[in-house]
Amino acid sequence: MIRATTRSALREALGPARSDGRRVGLVPTMGFLHQGHVSLIDLARESCDTVVVSVFVNPMQFGPGEDLDRYPRDIERDSDIARGRGTDVFFVPPIAEMYPAGTVEVVVDSPRLADRLCGAFRPGHFRGVLTVVAKLLNLVTPAAAVFGQKDYQQLALIRHMVRDLDLPVDILRGPTVREFDGLALSSRNTFLGSDERRDAALLSRSLHEAGAAFEAGTRNVSDLTRIVRERLNSGELVRPQYVELVGPDRLDPVETASEGDVLAIAAHVGATRLIDNIILGEAA
Ligand code: PAJ
Repeated sequence: MIRATTRSALREALGPARSDGRRVGLVPTMGFLHQGHVSLIDLARESCDTVVVSVFVNPMQFGPGEDLDRYPRDIERDSDIARGRGTDVFFVPPIAEMYPAGTVEVVVDSPRLADRLCGAFRPGHFRGVLTVVAKLLNLVTPAAAVFGQKDYQQLALIRHMVRDLDLPVDILRGPTVREFDGLALSSRNTFLGSDERRDAALLSRSLHEAGAAFEAGTRNVSDLTRIVRERLNSGELVRPQYVELVGPDRLDPVETASEGDVLAIAAHVGATRLIDNIILGEAA
């Protein structure tokens, strides 16, 4: 595995893959790798000859008062995990390498899609995500890039960016990897105290129950969201932020539930903000 910290070292590391016409796959991450990230690396490996994993905690996607400074980091452990899964190039740029001028004057944004769901509570977040992902795609020029369903709105926005800007890359979706009790793996789970950790399982449980009601024939949106809210409210430490049923592509709220729609939630458990979602008709 080659470890590259600069854009020129990255270009050099990818030289042989490019000249041999090998298919390059990119897995962008913010590090503190867990099995969810690992599953994306494995997915990239399945369809690509050369796998690049990037670790960059992108300041541009954190709002004032968010957890940029506290975001968990362990680059040596990440490096070992990436190497263990057969990563070819491990790209870990410092901030000044990604933002040499400190800021950027040109950004990628999606005024309509970026301001709903999580975006309504995290202004500017998806502008930061789309801009850094566009930069990473331009630096690596992969044939495929892999993103997790766990961050559904992010995945949908990246699909729109690639489509609308004609970026020559396939976007692959990795399923959400979960703990034994259903909690979606997240680098932020490390912030949860033991009581919070117990209540955090209510997010996936609430979605699972609504998914089961859908399977049993419930199509009324308020019935489905009520199931979720009631289960979330049964946890003393859980404070729901939103519970929404949206269409899979444009993320518009739907009037009647149908297969493929996305039931998405965000909630604070203690001070930690967690998100989760299911696609109706798919196993939760
Ligand atoms: P990060 O939160 O580190 O996630 C990196 C990738 O792992 C994302 O595609 C995310 O959806 C996926 N992922 C996270 N938890 C997962 C789980 N439990 N199962 C499967 N996949 C999971 O998302 C980001 O970083 C950043 O916004 C980034 C895209 C790197 C841009 O900075």
